[in-house]
Amino acid sequence: MSTRPPRPWRRSPDAFLSDVEQVLPWVEKHLADGEHDAPWSDVAPGTILAAIPDHPPIAPDPLDAVLRDLNEYIKPGLVRWDTPGWMAWFPCNAHPDSIIGDLLSSVMSQQGMLWLSSPACTELEMRMMEWMRKSIGLPDQFAEGGDGGGVIQDTASSAVLATLVAARERATNGQVNEHGPSAAEGLVAYCSNQAHSSMAKAVGITGIGRANLRSIPTDQNYCMDIDAFQTQVEADLHAGLKPFFCSATVGTTASGAFDPVEAISAICQSHDMWLHVDAAWAGSAAISPTHRDLIIAGAAQADSWCFNPHKWLGAVFDCCCLWVADRRALTTAMAIDPEYLRNKQSEEGHVIDYRDWHVQLGRRFRALKLWLLLRRTGVSALAKMIDHHIELAASLEHAIASMPHLELAAPRSLSLVCARHRNGDAATQALLQRINNSGRFAVTHCSLNNTLVIRFAIGTLSVEDFDIEALIDLITTT
Ligand SMILES: Cc1ncc(COP(=O)(O)O)c(C=O)c1O
Repeated sequence: MSTRPPRPWRRSPDAFLSDVEQVLPWVEKHLADGEHDAPWSDVAPGTILAAIPDHPPIAPDPLDAVLRDLNEYIKPGLVRWDTPGWMAWFPCNAHPDSIIGDLLSSVMSQQGMLWLSSPACTELEMRMMEWMRKSIGLPDQFAEGGDGGGVIQDTASSAVLATLVAARERATNGQVNEHGPSAAEGLVAYCSNQAHSSMAKAVGITGIGRANLRSIPTDQNYCMDIDAFQTQVEADLHAGLKPFFCSATVGTTASGAFDPVEAISAICQSHDMWLHVDAAWAGSAAISPTHRDLIIAGAAQADSWCFNPHKWLGAVFDCCCLWVADRRALTTAMAIDPEYLRNKQSEEGHVIDYRDWHVQLGRRFRALKLWLLLRRTGVSALAKMIDHHIELAASLEHAIASMPHLELAAPRSLSLVCARHRNGDAATQALLQRINNSGRFAVTHCSLNNTLVIRFAIGTLSVEDFDIEALIDLITTT
């Protein structure tokens, strides 16, 4: 009997477990350090790259050597989005319960492109999208089992891209997919001048063209000016163009402004335009009954609605929940049917094949991280977390409002506070730098009304009232 050569690529479950055990103390320390590590990394550009050998190892490295390098040159380059003082951009929380879900997803290594390729991945996702829909109180037109339904996308950028493709194909009767962008001629899309840049990216990718994206002015609170929207739509119709898509933002990136979704929907409905609602950040707050109505107002008239549980709710990145009212509009636009993917279950039509709900074919088992989060943390605790963050933001807002040298640059939106120095941009910039150099707090900026503004986006899992007090002290003494 011939003996087989060794299989150096294989790892027995025992060996894997022992590796995991060796990594776990590192994990524990990393999580504990998150309570006090400085939020920003202070490595100079190129430092980490220079520390990594030019060529990969030919023979295996021991795990302790990898962990040593992890500490030596990877960890210093980590930005601690999980530290209590993290208030930059928006939060990107990884709740431990969700981390376990993500870990299990890696262990299971499912590829859920078809129901057949992973029934568990598909059906848990269907159920999680319903759990999530009910948790945030989204209306029934998005429910699984009717005309609508939900899907987990990687990011809100992918969600708006997918819905734009669906709307484009609905408006052109499938002609752009068949004949290319010339069939999209005359289509016009809309969003406010505060909408996220993913919208401009998506109109470029889909062949609509950025020249055909109307950036609608906003009012004094940075919400879409509904009269300006109406006027622009009428002007476009008058010019023989075809308004077909509008993205309304619930919680803009700069200041957290809420577009008037109900009023926007009335205009969209009268011109058969697809209304997408981008609630990437603010959507998580709808899990709190106190804030829900504000966030889902107008959702019943929307064609699609999305938010990122990976931002504020604690689902490990990446996780964007997208619901559509008419799933066929999306799946018709995205469907592909090569022979090698054909199977009986798909053809019988009783299953969902999520490959038809987004751009990519293959997909991870993301529903697990929502399942673990919702089961182990529960909806009530998550709602309390949101309320807690919003209370902290309100206390920061009040403190800033009473400071002689600062002013609020926009109304507080949920847990986002925008402020600037009364002495102008240079003073605001100096304060921003001081906060970021504190080693305890991280903030980023935006521009509102052509002035520099500091954004305080409160919302990490561990932030407490004493952190906000320390921040107020820092600002006061600066
Ligand atoms: C309102 C809004 N929409 C979309 C996005 C894009 O998010 P993603 O990174 O999921 O594409 C962001 C990011 O912060 C956002 O604030």
